[in-house]
Amino acid sequence: MSAHNEAKMGDIAETILLPGDPLRAKYIADNFLEDVVCYNKVRNMLGFTGTYKGKRISVQGTGMGIPSISIYAHELITQYGVKNLIRIGTCGSFNEDVHVRDVILAMTSCTDSGINKNLFRGMDYSPCADFGMLSDAHKAATEQGVNIRVGSTLSSDIFYHDLENNPEPFKIWADYGVLAVEMEATALYTIAARNKAKALAILTVSDHILTGEATSAEERQTTLHTMIKIGLETAIR
Ligand code: ADE
Repeated sequence: MSAHNEAKMGDIAETILLPGDPLRAKYIADNFLEDVVCYNKVRNMLGFTGTYKGKRISVQGTGMGIPSISIYAHELITQYGVKNLIRIGTCGSFNEDVHVRDVILAMTSCTDSGINKNLFRGMDYSPCADFGMLSDAHKAATEQGVNIRVGSTLSSDIFYHDLENNPEPFKIWADYGVLAVEMEATALYTIAARNKAKALAILTVSDHILTGEATSAEERQTTLHTMIKIGLETAIR
């Protein structure tokens, strides 16, 4: 048991999928895994272990934002021995050529959060994905016929920006080649690196910040399936 997880040692697989939404964790367990056991209900942050193509895999909600994923990733790695962590989540695009429904592998993760500034005493750390996982996910996506994008993403602490005072909060990131914004990958990569674990974030573009376009419920389901499949195929490589 850890502070936020009632699983016993051994209940959680070495490889885990991490959606932000705990009901998405349940959806993945119900629809993609076999022989599923629910190991965590604390705070309704559901966690399940099952098998995919015969390999033991877990799936666990992380909540939204850097503090929430930091707690779960830290406990999973340091207290349950999790070694491979694959975030599957959504992101918003602020680039004309990054479209709703695109799937992105976050090679690196910039941030506007102060968390790593504090940790690294004002210096800049570059949180990055594990290259092996990135490469496996790229292969899995290509095999599935998915035209996947690979590049830099942004983990923001802010969902609702003060556009009156800062009308173009993402312009500087777009100018420097950052593909899209989400809220967790920086922390996942940093905590994995600190604890000698491997991590990758696979993201689907759910909304376009410049055009206001968003995915319908049906489209979200389809793109979610694509992303889950890439995550699971990466998990078993
Ligand atoms: N996740 C999905 N869309 C997002 C957005 N617009 N900002 C931050 N995180 C997101």
